[in-house]
Amino acid sequence: MQTVLIPSSQDGITQAANILAEGGLCAFPTETVYGLGADARNDSAVANIFAAKGRPQFNPLIVHVASLEHAEKYGEFDTNARALAQAFWPGPLTIVVPLRANSGLSDLVTAGLGSVGLRVPATPLAQNLLHQFDGPIAAPSANPSGKISPTTADHVVDGLWGKIDGIVNGGPCDVGLESTIVGCTAAPTLLRAGGLPTEALEACLSQLLAAPINGEITAPGQLLSHYAPNAPVRLNATAKREGEVFIGFGAIEGADLNLSPSGDLHEAATNLFRILHEANAMNADTICVAPIPEIGLGVAINDRLRRAAAPR
Ligand code: TXA
Ligand code: MG
Repeated sequence: MQTVLIPSSQDGITQAANILAEGGLCAFPTETVYGLGADARNDSAVANIFAAKGRPQFNPLIVHVASLEHAEKYGEFDTNARALAQAFWPGPLTIVVPLRANSGLSDLVTAGLGSVGLRVPATPLAQNLLHQFDGPIAAPSANPSGKISPTTADHVVDGLWGKIDGIVNGGPCDVGLESTIVGCTAAPTLLRAGGLPTEALEACLSQLLAAPINGEITAPGQLLSHYAPNAPVRLNATAKREGEVFIGFGAIEGADLNLSPSGDLHEAATNLFRILHEANAMNADTICVAPIPEIGLGVAINDRLRRAAAPR
């Protein structure tokens, strides 16, 4: 398949919207990571997402819409879900709500779960694309399944060139981590830590449950081995060993790369996947990573690092 690299101009956005309207696959940036978009109502387009990513199972996909008003066409929002949407949309939050009857969404998007994950992305480019396309866009992260998520168009080129129709080049993503996912099909439950810190959610809700640990996989992005670079990953490293590439955080000596020399968690989140891609390209025997504090965005950073380090 021929892939085209599309500029982020108005003409480029129109070209991307046309690809989606014709049932094609087009990657585009959001504030979290690059997504691989398809028309969420088109079964064959959605099936092609799974094929292009090499996703092992039909995991449900997040549906991107322009606003809460659009989201309510596809999902049923209770008081908690609406409070979250009003507080944090547009932004790095996905809300899983009961699927509305006759939503028109492809069954592959929801994996037959009876619920749907909805998100309103914040960047002008993503908003522009949603308005031009004028429909729901299903988009998982635009990386081959199990690999490091993409935060630049180059990362998408490396992972999916020749497998999708287009890639909109909108520069690096600001948040750099996937959205936080909250389930609102019953009492609000944190399904995935992400770009919106948990502390912000807790300030908005009277109660936020943790996802069951050993139970069913509630958000399949929660597969233990995920975000994997080629080399094994060693966590909480205070010094580098022979043959290792050392990713530091804060004022640490001997690091080859640093997520944030000043110890800023937002900067570290923004840089995380780019630096993992860079470490990957250095052909290390092992990638070791300095300790990251388990607060704010550090929770999601550590979640991604633990999955990158998990046995494969
Ligand atoms: O920031 C993001 O969320 C990015 C950008 C592109 O929006 N997307 C993303 O998609 O990270 P993906 O497919 O890599 O992760 C989506 C996660 C998966 O873990 C999936 O299982 C979960 O969302 N999910 C989607 N719909 C769900 C549902 N109905 N119930 C439970 N989990 C759901
Ligand atoms: Mg992903």
